[in-house]
Amino acid sequence: MPATLHLRLPAGAPDPSLIAQVADILRRGGLVAFPTETVYGLAANALDENAVRRLFEAKGRPANNPLIVHLPSAAAVTRVASHWPPLADRLASELWPGPLTLVLPRRPELPAVVTGGGPSVAVRVPAHPVARALLEAADLPLAAPSANRSGRLSPTSAEHVLEDLDGRIDAVLDGGATPGGIESTVLDVTTSPPRLLRPGLVSPGEIEALIGPILRAGEVNVEDQPLPSPGLLDRHYAPRTPLVVAPDDGGAVVRSLLAAGGRPGWLTHSTDEVPDVATERLPGDPAGYAAGMYAALHRLDRLGLDRIVVTAVPDGEGWLAIRDRLRRAAF
Ligand code: TXA
Ligand code: MG
Repeated sequence: MPATLHLRLPAGAPDPSLIAQVADILRRGGLVAFPTETVYGLAANALDENAVRRLFEAKGRPANNPLIVHLPSAAAVTRVASHWPPLADRLASELWPGPLTLVLPRRPELPAVVTGGGPSVAVRVPAHPVARALLEAADLPLAAPSANRSGRLSPTSAEHVLEDLDGRIDAVLDGGATPGGIESTVLDVTTSPPRLLRPGLVSPGEIEALIGPILRAGEVNVEDQPLPSPGLLDRHYAPRTPLVVAPDDGGAVVRSLLAAGGRPGWLTHSTDEVPDVATERLPGDPAGYAAGMYAALHRLDRLGLDRIVVTAVPDGEGWLAIRDRLRRAAF
């Protein structure tokens, strides 16, 4: 494949001629990265089996890990899902467009490669103006995982996408940094009660306020279960540099690594300082922290450090998705 086109959108706004160019690449079976309100996605036409196969190949993603299908509106869900329960309708009317993904029974016409061979399909209607313009122009359901090599940090800028995928995809539509910073919440509504599969920018509390109690299976996995053997660890969203979450502020861990001749970096929302240590300081509120987290980890990961130390984040539901991503990034 020739070098990946880097298509810069002036002021991050959806320029119609660039959007049309990208929609055309997608119609011809190409792969294009684009910004959403969470992270950059890597899109392929969900109805084109070969395009979706190429997408799995470009990411190095295991074939049994299903993709999220992005749609321009809730009305388009019936193109890929066979059933639209009233409860999904309530969630969609309040939270779409936005960072909530719903798992529904799939339509048999949808290529099985999209769903990893499974009976359900994940769908969401993104809120980012560039994503919306692209979905409308392409007039196709777009299968789009995060635009990174499998297992790596999700990209929140076009530069992050190119670091991982330059030469492996047709184009990246550069709309600047993505505002949310971490991935959507994934909720399975094929079960009763619905089940949280991945915590994200929409909190379980927001969902329950609309549809009543849900199973926080994600939370049980994240917080309460013993870690599986290291080979089975669900390592994901991870920098190349080994990452540890300190049980507290982290300053003491950083100082002792430094004293032992190591090269630690530090990701923290505390005000403590350690001289001569590469430090990325994030805001102390979950939304601000999420918005900057992956970009900060990408920067630390480029420094040739031997360890990234992360200050533990608070308990409580507001920080659930961030704790989940940090746990998966650690080893
Ligand atoms: O914010 C996001 O969700 C971003 C942007 C691009 O939309 N996308 C994203 O996609 O994070 P990806 O592929 O990196 O993560 C999708 C998650 C995976 O954990 C996958 O296993 C799960 O959703 N998933 C997809 N389809 C599913 C299904 N049918 N049943 C259960 N889980 C599913
Ligand atoms: Mg991903």
